[in-house]
Amino acid sequence: MEKKELLYEGKAKKVYTTEDPDVLIVSYKDDATAFNGEKKGTIVGKGAINNRMSNHVFKLVEKAGVPTHLIEELNDRETAVKKVEIVPLEVIVRNVAAGSFSKRLGVPEGTPFTAPTLEFSYKNDELGDPLINDYFAIALNLATREEIEKITEYAFKVNDVYRAYFAQLGIDLIDFKIEFGRCKGEIILADETSPDTCRLWDSKTHEKLDKDRFRRDLGNVEEAYQEVFKRLGLS
Ligand code: TMP
Repeated sequence: MEKKELLYEGKAKKVYTTEDPDVLIVSYKDDATAFNGEKKGTIVGKGAINNRMSNHVFKLVEKAGVPTHLIEELNDRETAVKKVEIVPLEVIVRNVAAGSFSKRLGVPEGTPFTAPTLEFSYKNDELGDPLINDYFAIALNLATREEIEKITEYAFKVNDVYRAYFAQLGIDLIDFKIEFGRCKGEIILADETSPDTCRLWDSKTHEKLDKDRFRRDLGNVEEAYQEVFKRLGLS
């Protein structure tokens, strides 16, 4: 599988076409941004960690019955994936209060929930990915009711799989963001799952092992990514 043309360059990944119109190659970068691109930096080794971690956990959710875009890991940084039309929603599942939830609702970070929550943001950089609900998504034709139902079902299933898996590694899954795509009329899990897109706290010490170390200038950013990679058995 060979890269042909650069189709798109995002903040953390490049996407290339291949000879097969149904297949793209994603190439993960070490670049990191936060606050809608206002803060920029590099997390050395991040591209390889995010690529390999994402593929590893996508295989787990596949086994649990959630289809994903994964075709084949090509090397440390690159993966062949099914071409999808991205549903322009950031789908966020939370198990414990943190981040924007804590800020918006005045609930201290670390407060556990009695049940997981689900929220949607409209993927739109100009607007700063505003929080919306399912009615907004349908009214704006971002997704159909059937698609929203499928996405909701899959998102909670993904949470169950990830949460149980990370717990075994001594990591609490606080929250995460996923994205879905349309592929041949089906909704499938796309984009990535990595320390860029999850909050991962050490179960015992509650140390943050994710991108919040970069967002909040907490130091030891690379070390946190490496620690997650090691616990996944990938290093
Ligand atoms: P939030 O608390 O800032 O809304 O973030 C919720 C989760 O979503 C957290 O695990 C980080 C992740 N996330 C992204 O993956 N991309 C983003 O652009 C943002 C703002 C959050």
